[in-house]
Amino acid sequence: MRLFHSNTKDFFCLFTCIRAVQRGLLASLENTAPRTAPGARVQIPCLKAANVMIDRGRLTEIYARERQDFVATHPRSAAAYSRSDHLFGQVPMTWMNKNARDFPIYLERARGNRVWDIDGFEYVDFALGDTGAMAGHSPEATVAAIQHRVGALGGTTTMLPTEDAEWVGAELTRRFGLERWSFSLTATDANRWAIRLVRALTGRPRILFNSHCYHGSVDESLIVVGSDGDGMSRPGNVGEPVDVTLTSRVAEFNDLQGLERQLAHGDVAAVLMEPALTNIGIVLPEPGYLEGGRELTRRYSVLPERSTVSPARHLATVPSRRPAPTACWRTSSTCTR
Ligand SMILES: Cc1ncc(COP(=O)(O)O)c(C=O)c1O
Repeated sequence: MRLFHSNTKDFFCLFTCIRAVQRGLLASLENTAPRTAPGARVQIPCLKAANVMIDRGRLTEIYARERQDFVATHPRSAAAYSRSDHLFGQVPMTWMNKNARDFPIYLERARGNRVWDIDGFEYVDFALGDTGAMAGHSPEATVAAIQHRVGALGGTTTMLPTEDAEWVGAELTRRFGLERWSFSLTATDANRWAIRLVRALTGRPRILFNSHCYHGSVDESLIVVGSDGDGMSRPGNVGEPVDVTLTSRVAEFNDLQGLERQLAHGDVAAVLMEPALTNIGIVLPEPGYLEGGRELTRRYSVLPERSTVSPARHLATVPSRRPAPTACWRTSSTCTR
């Protein structure tokens, strides 16, 4: 039995307790770490006191061995991948290529906290569909409800509301305390919808993000802090519809001064912030950072875009009327992923 992580980001989450090691060691697996000569020994800051050195040569060796082993033990997934000729990037969604191996494992079935691949391996699933399956894969109640809806009643895409939707909205309000809910099919869509609404509510054009955040493929979020301290398009951002610095502002995570500098422009409608960064390893908030951010958004009257998504993260909610300014915290899957 193995541990399953759908991509390198999920792999990181298994090791949040040694996040400095993640940043140096695992980033190197993604080729995002500063390159050092093979064989170089690198000291990770938090391990300095313990005088622990990471031997990159050894790391490269182990990684190569693991990759070889993976190819040898997953011939069916390898074959499925090489047969794939009608999918852009050989996969249904291009990010599925972003894994630490040479090809993705192909799913056979999933149940509870387990998935099985077509090569017969059983995995404990720490990804859980990136929280879409937070309650486990195919719980009986869900299977029964879907069978009833699709089989007995009929209709998967009718463009009509059902009475169930209001029940679900009420239940989400009971659980999470937010008044009004709107449904979308992906978290990216939820973000886009919420962003439109906060712009309409505030009349302000820009959304503020953290450098290297992850909010799906929302164009506005693909901004990082440049060398001059202001925003620039994130390297690798392709097909940008407009210059991202016109739509967004950016501050480094854990940098309250930077956040305040950007909010002081007075043109930010909402701050979209993960409670912990998950796109470059897990970067936890420093003590007081989240509270300080909330305080700043109040002070600068950044209206809330309470885009919140949890545990079914494909939902967004925005206030139905102008409430007192508060911050926008996504309590989404990201902290548990
Ligand atoms: C915080 C956050 N926003 C957005 C997304 C994108 O989700 P989706 O693929 O459903 O668009 C994710 C997915 O990991 C996420 O964690």
